[in-house]
Amino acid sequence: MIICETIADVRQKISEFKRKGKRIGFVPTMGNLHEGHLSLISASKEECDITIVSVFVNPTQFSSGEGFEKYPRTLESDQEKLKDLKIDILFLPDENQMYGSSSQTLVLVGGTISNSLEGCSRPEHFNGVTLIVTKLFNIIAPDVAFFGQKDAQQARIIYQFVKDLSIQVVLKVLPIVRESDGLAMSSRNTLLSKENRAIAPSMYEGMLEGAKAIRDGETDPMQVLAIITEHLICFKEIEIDYVAIIDPVTFEEVEEINKDVLIIGAIFLDNIRLIDNYYVDRN
Ligand code: PAJ
Repeated sequence: MIICETIADVRQKISEFKRKGKRIGFVPTMGNLHEGHLSLISASKEECDITIVSVFVNPTQFSSGEGFEKYPRTLESDQEKLKDLKIDILFLPDENQMYGSSSQTLVLVGGTISNSLEGCSRPEHFNGVTLIVTKLFNIIAPDVAFFGQKDAQQARIIYQFVKDLSIQVVLKVLPIVRESDGLAMSSRNTLLSKENRAIAPSMYEGMLEGAKAIRDGETDPMQVLAIITEHLICFKEIEIDYVAIIDPVTFEEVEEINKDVLIIGAIFLDNIRLIDNYYVDRN
């Protein structure tokens, strides 16, 4: 595994692989790697000749008080995992490499896909994501980039700017990897107390109950939301940020459930924010 800490170095290493006609797969991460990340890396290894993983805790996607400092940084064990997986390049830039002191550009995606849900609760978040992912795409120029459905809105926004800016990359979005009790794997899970970890899967359980109602024929989103929130309010520790039933493409809330929908939600457990979603196929 080659480790590159500078943009110049990673570009040079990649250009050597590209000269040999290799297909480059890329998995951007913020580290603290778990099975969710590893599933993306395995997919890249399967589909591409060369797999590049970046680990960079991106400050611009955290507003103040959103836990940038507290974000779990576990570089040593991440490196071990990546070595075991036999990835080709680990890109490990620092803040100075990625932003320097004079970054003044934004990549703004407009419309409901940016302004709803996570975009509403975390107004600066997606601007940080679009900027860093655009920069990483420009640096790595991958043939294929791998993202998780766990961050469904992020994946949708990345798809949009890649299309709008004619960036030449194929995007692959892979299913959510869950713990055995259903909790979506997330670096933030490690921040939960033992008690809160035990009730954290309830968001997924609520979504499953909602999905069952839809499959049984319920078409009124308000009824489905009532089922989900009723499940969640059993736990006084849970503060619901949002739960919504949306069109998976437009991210608009649906008025009637008559085609595939995405149940999507965010909760707080003692200030730790957890997100999850569940795709309901109507066929
Ligand atoms: P991070 O949270 O480290 O996630 C990196 C990738 O792993 C994202 O595409 C995310 O959706 C995916 N992922 C996380 N948990 C997953 C799970 N349980 N199952 C499947 N995939 C999962 O997302 C980011 O970093 C950043 O915003 C980034 C794109 C790197 C830009 O800074």
